[in-house]
Amino acid sequence: MSEPANPKRVHITTYGCQMNEYDSSRMAGLLAEMGYTPVERPEEADLILLNTCSVRERAAHKVYSQVGALKALKDRRPHLIIGVAGCLAQQEGDRLLEHIPHLDMVVGTGALQSLPQLVADADQGRRRSHTPQPREYRWPPPRVNSGLKALVTVMAGCDNFCTYCVVPYVRGRERSRPAGEIAQEVAALVESGAREITLLGQNVNSYRDPRDGLDFPGLLERLARTPGLWRLRFTTCHPKDLSPRLMEVMAGEETVMEGLHLPVQAGSDRVLAAMGRGYTRSQYLELVQRLRRVVPGVALGGDMIVGFPGESEEDFQQTLAIIDEVGYDFLYSFKYSDRPFTRARRLADKLSEEIKSRRLLELQERQRQRSLALHQEMVGQVAQVLVEGPAKKGTGLMSGRDRGGRAVNFPGGAELKGRLVRVEITQGLVNSLKGRLIQDPNKGVQS
Ligand code: 5AD
Ligand code: SF4
Repeated sequence: MSEPANPKRVHITTYGCQMNEYDSSRMAGLLAEMGYTPVERPEEADLILLNTCSVRERAAHKVYSQVGALKALKDRRPHLIIGVAGCLAQQEGDRLLEHIPHLDMVVGTGALQSLPQLVADADQGRRRSHTPQPREYRWPPPRVNSGLKALVTVMAGCDNFCTYCVVPYVRGRERSRPAGEIAQEVAALVESGAREITLLGQNVNSYRDPRDGLDFPGLLERLARTPGLWRLRFTTCHPKDLSPRLMEVMAGEETVMEGLHLPVQAGSDRVLAAMGRGYTRSQYLELVQRLRRVVPGVALGGDMIVGFPGESEEDFQQTLAIIDEVGYDFLYSFKYSDRPFTRARRLADKLSEEIKSRRLLELQERQRQRSLALHQEMVGQVAQVLVEGPAKKGTGLMSGRDRGGRAVNFPGGAELKGRLVRVEITQGLVNSLKGRLIQDPNKGVQS
């Protein structure tokens, strides 16, 4: 590709989940082909794209205020193009253009391929929104220019329709990419320097190769053997679909990491049923027990919603109790908020903001204690750490992740970046571990 005479600059802000991060990198790739180079500061950009999330009300509000704040910039530089992409774009479509006069384009979750055309139209002063049903979503070609870690989508969309969740409406029905295409992308990323790949999907366990029906454990096994790949992770897993076979692949393949995000969402059967989750409290706990048996030392992550309509104090106590029983290394917790199109929105017995806030605080305190205890128990163990770079806090500290995905900080030099090292854990904190290097990194990398 020849260098354009007058390169344009793009600034992309990504909100929400890793799926959006992945889409942002795809959009950056498409824009690079049009001659756009990325810039750090929005003030320097000719095109500003906000890749948005609408899974919770707060995320959606944040986008409106961010786009609002860009008006001053647009007033100063009328040629600036401002676009909104992602889940809020898909949800709101034309309405965004109607409500925000300084917005130029709206790119739905199934319309990434149309981005170049939408930018060209905006350049000509044509404001457009393109939000087709994401049914026929075609994955734009990857942009192979990788760091140490990379994301690869294996499937998109969701057919579960949990009663609180907007995702099936803004990301559409489930569809999977052909395994061959995924394998090629993984190999190309590894070739360009990636050592850790995370496979993405709203519910990776629903993966089915559209051509030969290969399932997710089969796909994982195939990708795990990619030459040069050190670490393979995947997210997210719906508990109702976590199969014994997947656990076996996790246990059997050295490159598949022992970390799992297994959102439970609530601890009471009544609330789980009202959420339409498709499992009970005891089924979830049995699953966790089995997983811990098959994959010893597995790190568990979860999501929890407090204040679902009708959640009683007793229901909430069950949620606190399940946190103790499971022992999550990481738990993301949220106050329930009404989302468009969802069934829960129409339920009675909505809880007050005050109750939701109090429960969230209590839950988070409980989780902090639990994570701390779990991490303190790890003192003395030896972790395999992929070193990502200097720690954000503390000079002379390097930072990386263990096989479970826990952050590990330890004294070390910058030359360790990109290496697999052994670290003895010396201290457990709420959100991370501290340790000391116990092996000459020049001898024996990888396991
Ligand atoms: N309110 C609060 N939290 C929600 N989530 C999804 N929908 C809602 C909602 N309406 C949470 C779930 C999900 C995570 C991505 O966001 O916990 O797993
Ligand atoms: Fe939303 Fe449920 Fe699908 Fe997860 S499984 S994306 S919570 S509908």
